[in-house]
Amino acid sequence: MVDTRIYKVTDLDKNDVQADIKNIVRSGKNIIFPTETVYGIGASALSEKGVQNIYKVKGRPSDNPLIMHFSDIGSIHDYIHIDQSYVKKLIEAFWPGPLTMVFRRKPVVPNTITGGLDTVAIRVPSHPIAQKVIAIAGVPVCAPSANISGTPSSTLFEHVYADFNKKVDIIIDGGKSDVGLESTVLDVTGDVPVILRPGIITKAMIKSITPHVDMSEALQGTEVPKSPGMKYKHYAPSGKLTIVEGEKVTDYINDQIKKQHQSNKKVGVIATANLAKRFDTDYVFNIGESFDEAIIASNLYIALRTMDQMQIDVIYSVSFHQGRYGEVIMNRLYKAANHRVVKV
Ligand code: TXA
Ligand code: MG
Repeated sequence: MVDTRIYKVTDLDKNDVQADIKNIVRSGKNIIFPTETVYGIGASALSEKGVQNIYKVKGRPSDNPLIMHFSDIGSIHDYIHIDQSYVKKLIEAFWPGPLTMVFRRKPVVPNTITGGLDTVAIRVPSHPIAQKVIAIAGVPVCAPSANISGTPSSTLFEHVYADFNKKVDIIIDGGKSDVGLESTVLDVTGDVPVILRPGIITKAMIKSITPHVDMSEALQGTEVPKSPGMKYKHYAPSGKLTIVEGEKVTDYINDQIKKQHQSNKKVGVIATANLAKRFDTDYVFNIGESFDEAIIASNLYIALRTMDQMQIDVIYSVSFHQGRYGEVIMNRLYKAANHRVVKV
C-alpha cells in the first residue's frame, strides 16, 4: 500500500509539488497524469523498477510494449533511428498531439519497455500537464493508459482514483480527457506507414501528409478474430456488451430488455440523445448527439465504466459509424463487445 498524493492542476506551480514529482519519477515510482487522449500511468523509461511496477499494478502482459513520452521533440533522437523521409512531415503536422509513431530503436532503450522488440513507440503529448510532468521529470516517461489491463481506459479522475488509489504515489486530477480515446499508433519503419491502432488522427488526415498509408491487417474487418483470446480482450466492461445495428434497433433492444428482466438481469443501454428516451430499463447512458462524434468519442469509456458502477449485467449499445471519428469509436466498441454484433 502506498500513501497516494492527489494534486490539482494548480498545484503544479508549487516548488514542493514539483520536487515530489521529480523525485517519484526518478526514484522508480509511478505517477498518474492526464493527457489529451486518456490518463496515463507513468514511470521513468530509464527505470527498470518503475516500468516493472507499471506492468504489475496494471496486470499487463510483459510482452505488450509501452509508449515513451517526451515533452519536446528534440530529445527523441537519442533513442531512435528515423529511417523514412515522410516522418519529418508527420512530425510537423501532428506533434505535439495524439499520434504515436513506432521507430527502430537505439540500444539505449531498455528491453523492459519494448517487450523485446527492436522498435519503440514514441509520443509527444499536447496536454500542458503531461508536458509539464515530463519536463519536471527530465527523463522520457513511459505511460500506458491508466486502467487495469483489459478494462476501458480512464478518462476521468474518478476512474483512475478507483483503480489506483493506494497503488501509485501521485495522481494528478486533470478533469475529463479531451479526446477520450487513445492515440493513433503508426508504424513508420517501412516505406509506407502502417496504422496499428486507429485514433482521432485518422487515415485520411495522415494521407493528406503522406500519399500512401496502410491499415494493419489485424484491423481489417469486424468479424470475430480466428483465434480469440487474451489478445482481443480490450476496453471490456464487466457486463456482457452487444452492439445492435440496423433499422429496428429500438424494438429489438426493448424486446431484449423484457427478456433479460424476466431472468432478473440488470440491463443498460448506450444510445445517442435522439434515441435515449425510447428505452425503459435500469439505466440508459445518453452518449451525446448523433452528429457530435467528438463528444461521443470522449464519452465512450465513461459509458462503459458507468455500466460497471451501476452493476449492469447486460449492456446493449447502438453503433456510432458516422463522422470523422466513426471508425475509431467503432474499433474500440467492437473490441469492448468482443465483436458481438446483432444486425436487426
Ligand atoms: O493515448 C495514448 O497513447 C495513451 C496515453 C496515456 O498516452 N497511452 C496508451 O498506451 O494508450 P498503451 O500502453 O495503453 O497502448 C500502447 C499501444 C499498445 O497497443 C501497444 O501494443 C502499442 O501501443 N505499442 C507500443 N510499442 C509498440 C511497438 N514497438 N510496436 C508496435 N506497437 C507498439
Ligand atoms: Mg491501454
